[in-house]
Amino acid sequence: MFKATKDKSLTERPLPEHIAIIMDGNGRYAKLRSMPRIKGHYEGMQNVKRIVRHAVDIKLKYLTLYAFSTENWSRPKSEVNYLLKLPTDFLGSFLPELIEKNVIVKTIGDFSALPKHTRKAVQTAMDKTADNTGLTLVFALNYGGRDELIGAVKEMIADVQAGTLDRNSLNSSTFDDYLMTKDMPDPEMIIRTSGEYRLSNFLLWQASYSELFFSHTLWPEFSTEELDELISQYQKRERRFGGLNEEDEPDED
Ligand code: IPE
Ligand code: IPE
Ligand code: MG
Repeated sequence: MFKATKDKSLTERPLPEHIAIIMDGNGRYAKLRSMPRIKGHYEGMQNVKRIVRHAVDIKLKYLTLYAFSTENWSRPKSEVNYLLKLPTDFLGSFLPELIEKNVIVKTIGDFSALPKHTRKAVQTAMDKTADNTGLTLVFALNYGGRDELIGAVKEMIADVQAGTLDRNSLNSSTFDDYLMTKDMPDPEMIIRTSGEYRLSNFLLWQASYSELFFSHTLWPEFSTEELDELISQYQKRERRFGGLNEEDEPDED
């Protein structure tokens, strides 16, 4: 179990702008309590509310939550159906608070393959929060990093063929513009709960220089205190982006 330590550095150093979370461990949470897996997903959804409220409180700019991957279709149909009903349930009860808290709701992933009720609930939330200016809350729903990259390449080829993109001008920043995350910064932090050490097809391009955090806590139990602790660890990490620390730079004139 995670134990919080008192550290006041959170407000004293710059916060990351964008935190992305792989919310894993709902099934194991349920199993440990001899409950059906979907009960774990229900508790996971309750925790999304707590974490979102906290993200608003600490004035985070972007929070991306991996809710359903392109590979999650391979689970039993009843579990898939439940997982795809969660956004409808979540937004059904939480949307007024999101609106009131000035949150902007967005999604990444292949929207078109989702059930109609899911699309409707999410579209309503996006429409009703589009003019807000606070936290951008991004749900990765039917999202897969490889699908995103293939989609981007296809669009780029089409644009080159149409003459609207010059293939010689293509660089990493033009590439960004073809991704589902084009309007947001890359996540400075990616957190995965439940003790698994992998990305599972999440934000493959965008994670290039993200600081990675792996927590052993199962998602329904991942607390705001632990999030704060990870943010404070992030604030102490040294990000070099391939360069050197300032103190290791030779004096050159
Ligand atoms: C994460 O919990 C939620 C989704 C992947 C949708 P899991 O359902 O993967 O939980 P575990 O990994 O089986 O414990
Ligand atoms: C990753 O978790 C996807 C989400 C959290 C939505 P999984 O539980 O699906 O990942 P694997 O199968 O353990 O890699
Ligand atoms: Mg899992």
